[in-house]
Amino acid sequence: MRLQGARRVFDRLDWWDVNAWEGSALWSFCDEGAALLLVPLDLSPDDALDATRAATAWVRWCAVADDGKAPACLRRVFDEAEARLAAHGVREVWCIVRSFDWLRPYLRERGYRPASRLLTFQVELERAVEAPPLPAGLWLRPAHAGDFDVVCGLDAVAFDEPWRYPPALMRLAFERAFAVTVAACADGIVGYACSLLHQANGHIVRLAVHPSLRLQGIGAGLLMDSVARLRQAGAQAVSLNTQSDNRAAQRLYRRLGFALLDEKPAVLRKPIAPAADGGVT
Ligand SMILES: CC(C)(COP(=O)(O)OP(=O)(O)OC[C@H]1O[C@@H](n2cnc3c(N)ncnc32)[C@H](O)[C@@H]1OP(=O)(O)O)[C@@H](O)C(=O)NCCC(=O)NCCS
Repeated sequence: MRLQGARRVFDRLDWWDVNAWEGSALWSFCDEGAALLLVPLDLSPDDALDATRAATAWVRWCAVADDGKAPACLRRVFDEAEARLAAHGVREVWCIVRSFDWLRPYLRERGYRPASRLLTFQVELERAVEAPPLPAGLWLRPAHAGDFDVVCGLDAVAFDEPWRYPPALMRLAFERAFAVTVAACADGIVGYACSLLHQANGHIVRLAVHPSLRLQGIGAGLLMDSVARLRQAGAQAVSLNTQSDNRAAQRLYRRLGFALLDEKPAVLRKPIAPAADGGVT
């Protein structure tokens, strides 16, 4: 896609590469030089919009050509994409933007408002503390392919909709992660953690414990097991993200030696609803 090389490119595709979305019907284009990809939470590149059951979508990718007039082009692609999603039952569009992202003022103009902030915590590995022992009858082990469906189900009960990992994203996480660890007991899997390693930087991408088994040390056990594995593989620091309204996760991270970093991207949200004329209110 020619816009890939433009100066104004916004990319929040996470595990995906934009080329994976090339043939997707979810794009909105403007001939004057803009492209926008709004994706319902549960869809992957090959899915049609009719398949969505999600109430939320994310702004995944957006670009304006260097000679394109951003306000007019963006109005067109956003109008079109939001109306299309609303007609398929999507009720909110979400987006994570940093203060310097070129798209941010346009999103504000379109009614995208702050819902929370994305916080990043980091621990220098000499400061990490030991996790308490796991409750009796629980153990940690590396995830294997057969765990996939259970981990997807666990993710869906652990996270609210905009933050869930649909199977298509989880599949990529399983394939590309440095490690996926599960907390198991005789009845099955009760928690999981997924991490990445890039040179000396480790990152915990996902951490979740079944709601009925929280506050027993399983989250701490999973987290510090991932940290230990990353350290063994050469990581010097490990980071992770959470939202500013997730107090339980923040308390856990601080207790385990993680410190909050300064950069706090905004999490923006816009309610969308179909209007009688096919537009968006
Ligand atoms: C965040 C999350 C993973 C924590 O999992 P958890 O298993 O409850 O974590 P822990 O039990 O190790 O620690 C939680 C608290 O329980 C306390 N705790 C641990 N064992 C305990 C016990 N036996 N008795 C009483 N309290 C206990 C811990 O001290 C800790 O207290 P804190 O408030 O000081 O942090 C879990 O809440 C979750 O899955 N949330 C939804 C998904 C999510 O937000 N993921 C991470 C952010 S993206």
